[in-house]
Amino acid sequence: MIGKKMQDALNRQINAELYSGYLYQSMSAYYQSINLPGFANWFWVQMQEETAHSQIIYNHLVDRGGRVHLLPIEEPPFEWPDARQPLEDSYQHEQKVTAMIGNLVNLAIEERDHAANSMLQWFVNEQVEEEKNVSGLVEQLKYAEGAPAGILMLDRELGARVFTPPAILTAGG
Ligand code: FEO
Repeated sequence: MIGKKMQDALNRQINAELYSGYLYQSMSAYYQSINLPGFANWFWVQMQEETAHSQIIYNHLVDRGGRVHLLPIEEPPFEWPDARQPLEDSYQHEQKVTAMIGNLVNLAIEERDHAANSMLQWFVNEQVEEEKNVSGLVEQLKYAEGAPAGILMLDRELGARVFTPPAILTAGG
């Protein structure tokens, strides 16, 4: 059975993951509005990943006899000044999420909750990927700026991204 403090913190993290999904879905809609469907697809897949992240924590709570409590999701930003800004913002956002995961690991250690700590290690590794992917894209977009053909090429490439559910979910884990 999971402790109340850890349960509450994980419920807040479910909310944070769902907010991330909401933010990326809003970014996806922004890219649709400026006719970059590949970027829109990339952020749509990001949204699917965030939903999966919330499900991993949800499953953990259920598996440990905890109670899932879904909290209100804040409204995400709606407009950005140019095609690069959502990527810059999502890089900042992922760094915040990394700090949240770090705080949860600290709490799991304080609470001597080894099961939560083990589950959270998946997120520790995932955040390394998340930050790397989005910061890589920010850099690529900088190269392409001022060269519309470069942006369109990148858009085609990002249009090919597909969502793959994390193994931790498909394995029933
Ligand atoms: Fe759930 Fe993008 O971190």
